[in-house]
Amino acid sequence: MPDDFSIARASEGDAAALSRIGRSTFTDTFGHLYRREDLEMFLEDKHSPQAYARVLGDDRTAAWLVRDADEAIVGYAVAAPCDLPVPNMKPNAGELARLYLSKEAQGGGVGGRLLREALQWLTSNFDAVYLSVYAENPGAQRLYARHGFIKIHDYHYMVGNHADPEWIMELSRE
Ligand SMILES: CC(C)(COP(=O)(O)OP(=O)(O)OC[C@H]1O[C@@H](n2cnc3c(N)ncnc32)[C@H](O)[C@@H]1OP(=O)(O)O)[C@@H](O)C(=O)NCCC(=O)NCCS
Repeated sequence: MPDDFSIARASEGDAAALSRIGRSTFTDTFGHLYRREDLEMFLEDKHSPQAYARVLGDDRTAAWLVRDADEAIVGYAVAAPCDLPVPNMKPNAGELARLYLSKEAQGGGVGGRLLREALQWLTSNFDAVYLSVYAENPGAQRLYARHGFIKIHDYHYMVGNHADPEWIMELSRE
């Protein structure tokens, strides 16, 4: 039940917790796509406690944690200034950089709630909002489309030395 889950902004002391949920949800969702060395290189670079300490220490960036009824962390989101290769990127652009739930929390509407929360913050802090999604993740693409995102570009996202086909989507503000 969605009501069994709470969503709250992460704070300075949450870098290790974000690292754990970031590593585990990425590995569970996409780990099978990569060679072990590529996956490890990526997790070390993007999901280390140090990487999340930088996220939490940057006041242009925000992170949220999802907790279940037992207070266990089962998901997270990160929003930040846009770092994607968007052609003709609009000025003052933000990015939904992460949106992940652990398996047991998926499919019950929590992702939609987490997305709304992050979008509220992004639209009040930036004039344009982008995200990147794996080209073969139609479930997440449908979720983003329902919340107003439109595909604008194809590119490759590097996981170690592995190039993943990805879509860039932009939030339509009309
Ligand atoms: C994507 C995700 C955050 C959505 O949260 P959720 O709570 O499962 O989704 P909700 O219940 O709010 O909404 C359901 C919609 O989410 C999407 N969805 C559901 N399960 C999903 C899954 N395992 N993977 C991807 N998308 C999923 C679908 O669009 C679904 O609607 P549908 O009926 O059209 O298929 C969550 O499923 C997840 O963490 N998936 C794995 C990680 C991932 O793919 N993250 C996105 C990276 S860009």
